[in-house]
Amino acid sequence: MKFFIDTANLAQIKEAQDLGVLDGVTTNPSLMAKEGITGDDNVLAHYKAICDLVDDNVSAEVISTDFEGMIAEGERLAAIDKKIVVKVPMIADGVKALKYFSKKGIRTNCTLVFSAGQALLAAKAGASYVSPFVGRLDDISTDGLQLIEDIRLIYDNYGYETEILAASVRHPMHIIECAKIGADVMTGPLSAIKALLKHPLTDIGLQQFLADHAKAAAATK
Ligand code: E4P
Repeated sequence: MKFFIDTANLAQIKEAQDLGVLDGVTTNPSLMAKEGITGDDNVLAHYKAICDLVDDNVSAEVISTDFEGMIAEGERLAAIDKKIVVKVPMIADGVKALKYFSKKGIRTNCTLVFSAGQALLAAKAGASYVSPFVGRLDDISTDGLQLIEDIRLIYDNYGYETEILAASVRHPMHIIECAKIGADVMTGPLSAIKALLKHPLTDIGLQQFLADHAKAAAATK
């Protein structure tokens, strides 16, 4: 399973990349706003800076909600770098835009997906990635991981090539469950990725190993 980080924060992207486990990045308009990135030139420059930090792809979301606007914006975003994947919302014009981009060979990520039906539409329109939001479904007492399982089954039934990008991942158990189900990619915060490192027995074991080594070294002096 590929690991994407869900942020527009360059320091966090670099930290995950330096850990050696990061594949790509997803962003959204809220995450860009959080970093104070506004204005066409700043947005394009920021996406370029993100692309320069990672090996795999970077999802850049359109702001437009009409077909023509999404096409113009998506083409501008795709021209920034070959790592850019154009992120398009799951609305009717978005589905048309997915089809358009797919025919033009521009990779897409269909975002704001909350049902298996929406995921099926995204695949039929030729989306490269579909982003079901696990955490936001959990937030409203609906099983987000069940949706990942349903989409996996449907895509495997028909051999759809659209990759399942489990989004709105909030904690390490989401990541582990997504891996068990067979999501192709997960995107989450740095905190969730780093939380995978933690186990108290690792810390206790390491302390013991180092203490035993120090004792033996002192005894042989
Ligand atoms: C998806 O690509 C979104 O950027 C993201 O995963 C949303 O996560 P959130 O629900 O934690 O905001």
